[in-house]
Amino acid sequence: MIEFSLRADHPSNTKTDAVAVAVHEGQKLSWAAQEIDKASKGALSAALKSASFAGRCGSVLPLFNLPGVAANRVLVFGAGSANLLAAKDARATGKALAATAVELDVSDVTMFPLGEGAVGAMQQMVLGASDATYRYDETKGTSAKPKPSLKRVRFGMPDAVAKEAAAALKVSVATVHGMEFTKYLGNLPANFCTPTRLGEEAKKLAKSHGLKVTVMDRKAIEKLGMGSFLSVTNGSEQPPRFIVFEYNGGKKNDAPTVFVGKGVTFDTGGISIKPAAEMDHMKWDMSGAGTVFGVMKAVAELKPKQNIVGLVAACENHINGKATKPGDVFKSMSGQTIEVLNTDAEGRLILCDALTYAERFKPRAVIDIATLTGACVVALGSHNAGIFASDDALAERIIASGKKMNDRFWRMPLEEDYQEALSSNFADMANVAGREGGAITAACFLWRFTKKYNWAHLDIAGVAYKGSGKEKGATGRPVAALVDYVMANE
Ligand code: BES
Ligand code: MN
Ligand code: ZN
Repeated sequence: MIEFSLRADHPSNTKTDAVAVAVHEGQKLSWAAQEIDKASKGALSAALKSASFAGRCGSVLPLFNLPGVAANRVLVFGAGSANLLAAKDARATGKALAATAVELDVSDVTMFPLGEGAVGAMQQMVLGASDATYRYDETKGTSAKPKPSLKRVRFGMPDAVAKEAAAALKVSVATVHGMEFTKYLGNLPANFCTPTRLGEEAKKLAKSHGLKVTVMDRKAIEKLGMGSFLSVTNGSEQPPRFIVFEYNGGKKNDAPTVFVGKGVTFDTGGISIKPAAEMDHMKWDMSGAGTVFGVMKAVAELKPKQNIVGLVAACENHINGKATKPGDVFKSMSGQTIEVLNTDAEGRLILCDALTYAERFKPRAVIDIATLTGACVVALGSHNAGIFASDDALAERIIASGKKMNDRFWRMPLEEDYQEALSSNFADMANVAGREGGAITAACFLWRFTKKYNWAHLDIAGVAYKGSGKEKGATGRPVAALVDYVMANE
């Protein structure tokens, strides 16, 4: 994991393996690039000219041994035409710079973000650098690669924002720690990342980070009356876990924010079995739970003056002779009964009981996070997660944090008109409606269990992981947005 810090010296005097400075389109130099250009008596601008550097966002031009510059390498990065780097471009820049540093096999880089919006850009560059250097090697066996060379990234910030930058950097570093943990848990194969393992990881995290945690087994979950949650575990050899994290940074009676994560460690679909193609993706069906782990880790590091609860319902959706059959009816913790018409709509079955459990905290807000529906992926693709909320202010704040952190959400409708499709002749409700509006009817199902508090539901099926390509793996979303949301409540 990279170590991030701030530093105060001039770009040309900085003792580091590489200094990174911005150049705009038209080879217009940023303040830091100007400083280097002056110190090197124009060598920087001469090099830009020979390279026909276009200044495109995300591009990096490495220069070596410029005279008058302490660092042997200057990484010129493109800053486009605007004075302010958009969050997305700053993230890509951090990623490209870190990737270049790894390619050049250096361990220490000092980055000088643009003067305007430098703090926000720095936050994104931290996330980008983490992206570029994150490695999964837990089960890589003999092909595990050596760790990337980059060990330290420092930021040279304008004096005027030094204090703000220090606070923001702390948040970003904790966010990255959270995201890397979320990625780690998500990428672990389902034969490693079982509900039992999640329970163990929860205890480990609680111990190392000073959180309170309770890990409940099947007996304890039965005692709570979570018949809907348990129905999903019927066909699996893996015992379920219900995990309760508590962070108490506020006053005793401060109403907490409660995060609830879907922790299906593998989703075969059950008797309503999934097609074979890409079924491996269903190891990421615990990404909502992984997000809760990541957020709790970041929160424990940042120590906000608030109370925060993290709930994780963890189980495996599998098939054996005891598996739930379509048409079976179960009683949820709320007392409402559910006809399971499709065993593959299991996320809502575990979440509804966790959402009922959340009532006991008398929360100021409850936010659930779940890879809930393929329909949400069809609707929004992989750039925005879906957000459904019973409270407009809550939705707006989460959306604002998402925009700021480039971890975006798009509001979807939560309206009574969609509820009718969930009616059943044999229970209080069915667990599925028709194919139409699948993400919305899933949210409407959960809505029935969240009437006692302000609630938002994040459907992250499209954003939690990349399903193919060189970067196939967990993304750590939406930890960044949720950590920002928590810190914005300070
Ligand atoms: N875990 C899936 C949703 C999912 C799909 C996540 C694709 C990530 C990528 C969920 O449990 C599920 O199977 N949902 C069904 C619901 C349907 C049966 C109403 C779906 O989306 O097909
Ligand atoms: Mn499913
Ligand atoms: Zn699922």
